[in-house]
Amino acid sequence: MASSQISLSSSFLLHKLPSPSLHRHRHRYGQAIACTATPSITSQPPLPTTNFSAKYVPFTSISTPTTESYSLNDVVYRSRDGGLLDVQHDMSALKQFDGHYWRTLFDSRVGTTKWPYGSGVWSKKEWVLPQIHDDDIVSAFEGNSNLFWAERFGKKFVKMNDLWVKHCGISHTGSFKDLGMTVLVSQVNKLRKRTTIPIIGVGCASTGDTSAALSAYCAAANIPSIVFLPANKISMAQLVQPIANNAFVLSIDTDFDGCMKLIRQVTTELPIYLANSLNSLRIEGQKTAAIEILQQFDWEVPDWVIVPGGNLGNIYAFYKGFKMCHELGLVDRIPRLVCAQARNANPLFQYYSSGWKEFEPVKAKTTFASAIQIGDPVSIDRAVCALKESNGIVEEASEEELMDAMAMADSTGMFVCPHTGVALSALIKLRGKGVIGATERAVVVSTAHGLKFSQAKIDYHSMGIEGMECSYGNSPVTVKDDFGAVMDELQKFLS
Ligand SMILES: Cc1ncc(COP(=O)(O)O)c(C=O)c1O
Repeated sequence: MASSQISLSSSFLLHKLPSPSLHRHRHRYGQAIACTATPSITSQPPLPTTNFSAKYVPFTSISTPTTESYSLNDVVYRSRDGGLLDVQHDMSALKQFDGHYWRTLFDSRVGTTKWPYGSGVWSKKEWVLPQIHDDDIVSAFEGNSNLFWAERFGKKFVKMNDLWVKHCGISHTGSFKDLGMTVLVSQVNKLRKRTTIPIIGVGCASTGDTSAALSAYCAAANIPSIVFLPANKISMAQLVQPIANNAFVLSIDTDFDGCMKLIRQVTTELPIYLANSLNSLRIEGQKTAAIEILQQFDWEVPDWVIVPGGNLGNIYAFYKGFKMCHELGLVDRIPRLVCAQARNANPLFQYYSSGWKEFEPVKAKTTFASAIQIGDPVSIDRAVCALKESNGIVEEASEEELMDAMAMADSTGMFVCPHTGVALSALIKLRGKGVIGATERAVVVSTAHGLKFSQAKIDYHSMGIEGMECSYGNSPVTVKDDFGAVMDELQKFLS
């Protein structure tokens, strides 16, 4: 049994919830509801009430069916043979409703204040965590992020007209991690409220954004959060988030991979629930960003979606969201996926470039895209599946390329993070090679808010980065308090 899997005989795993059908509660607004999908839109014909459900299965069961499965109420992160798990939905129950039904249902929930459906994640509740009661959900109405038409960037830098940036980082804690964390913390909240499973807190190793999201959602639900951060390797803005949200913060003298190893050991010894994306619950929330992209295009499928990758959960989450929409008849194909890595932390790129021969973890080097400075990604198998199934590509970006791409985007009115710079840089390269066509529709996924990475931008615009030309740098002009001097500078600028 994998060391990170809690033994089946341990009390941490054994206690299960009574059947959801016994748990009918009053909605916070008073009406009685069941843990089932109850179509709420008047334009729909009355449809049968259906019990939707989901369970953990070994990730390999996608290709090799197995009888091994676990309830989502179990605390289990790995399959019996030590592999990854995946959340498997009862697709036959979901398939009782056609694509038109799901599209109309999801569209009817956008922008509402109705708990919890106003959230971009929980508006797809039946596909995410169907058996949770609405009152157990911990949500900040995350999701519904801007799909921005990057008109100027597209025309100026890549000669494209149909380029879009999905701003997943303009969110509650300033990164896409909110999408997955609302699901994980909601499930923990349910387990703590409704079972005797002794979960004393939720823990994660983080390159910054996971700990920010975890601590915010835990604070909202009054659940202790414990975060392991690599010392001096995350931005100040990211560090202050878990501190402000009252997490127990351990700053450890190692890198992310070292923190990950430690938290996995700790969660096998103590009843601390592991919140890293090894935990497949997070993928369920993150996949809604893919569904949202389709929805925002009126259910038209873009040709390309480019995602920056580190621990590689997100690229799989996008694949899973697109795949579900295809399988359930909302769309007729899925986009090609590109996973973009920083050259300083590029184990997936190297694996892809070798023709998927043999995966070798790397020692990740320092990168401005600090949240993806990961050399031994937990979700490597998930990423390979996503890329193979979507006819996908892996690209990489040097430090100079990613910082230039970030600055180029900012110069056209965005304010993106270095990870988005990695994805934009991949786009620039693939356009340069003619792989992505000028008239194709491409979406670049922006994963964090640029304000969390102000220091990287300051360094770039001060032209103070060793070995980097900072070609798009824009340093302020210092001028004395004198009208003539100011006019001279303005004339130089305007000439
Ligand atoms: C800002 C940002 N971008 C991209 C990623 C990469 O996501 P994943 O680790 O799922 O590949 C992360 C995750 O750590 C992140 O915080």
